[in-house]
Amino acid sequence: PVDASNPAKVLLSHGNASVEIYLFGATVTSWKVGGVEKIFLSKKAHLDGSKAIRGGIPLVFPHFGTIPTSTLPQHGFARVSTWSRLDPPSETETATSVAFTLSPRAVPAALAAKWPHAFRLTYTVTLTTDTLTTTLKVENTADVAWEFTSLLHTYFATRGVAHVGVKGLEGASFVDKVAEGAPRAVESRTAVIVAGEVDRVYEGVDDKAEVTVTGTGHGDVVVHRTNLPDVVVWNPWTDKAKAMADFGDDEFDNMICVEAGSVAKFISLQPGETWTGGQTLKTA
Ligand code: BG6
Repeated sequence: PVDASNPAKVLLSHGNASVEIYLFGATVTSWKVGGVEKIFLSKKAHLDGSKAIRGGIPLVFPHFGTIPTSTLPQHGFARVSTWSRLDPPSETETATSVAFTLSPRAVPAALAAKWPHAFRLTYTVTLTTDTLTTTLKVENTADVAWEFTSLLHTYFATRGVAHVGVKGLEGASFVDKVAEGAPRAVESRTAVIVAGEVDRVYEGVDDKAEVTVTGTGHGDVVVHRTNLPDVVVWNPWTDKAKAMADFGDDEFDNMICVEAGSVAKFISLQPGETWTGGQTLKTA
């Protein structure tokens, strides 16, 4: 079933699974399977549209981080714009699904002015008893080409981040954003662990490689990616946690971000062209 009685958010349920999505940012803020929450949402998250939601699955578009050629804030405007729900939702025996759309007129004017391109985004959230699929379609509705990067900034809930291992990245080349000069290296470990601040962009990780988040205390989750070749692993650790006003000082222990995206290279879209990328999270 789909519950859209609250104007700020949509609740989908399917069997013993549920997902909650805020129209602000089209941000997934909860995914529960059998009553177990898989997704981290900060106790200090702003849910009133005054700031990007700290936790859940914020959507990064039209660029990851900050870039020299844009004055947009970090991670772009999709996560701070109010999306519209597309009717009707779809409900079948096997899945319940809802879609959202964003075009420039719903982007805060000051931000839209900084990225003056015509586009349409469609974000589809599909729930089954053991999976959550989130797919972003980007359409160039302008008469000139433009380029973008995008990412699904998933925060997984953890009970003690020291127990967590992110598997499936062995052999991948990464940029270490924490180390001086952001050096590049190749991952040699079977599991990426967190024992300090981690902010790494693993580039060109074969789509067929499953990335598995283990040891969270909330059940393992396998991340299947489509057209999202890059994987960011982020944990702010103690000092950065304290520096974030919308994040509890101890909450670094309760989360790990494993973010599927296409961020290492810009994607160029010609007029009328579309690009689609997504992920399926599956309970293991
Ligand atoms: C990650 C970046 O994707 O997002 C980090 O790699 C960044 O560098 C983090 O700190 C959180 O960003 P924000 O803008 O939500 O605080």
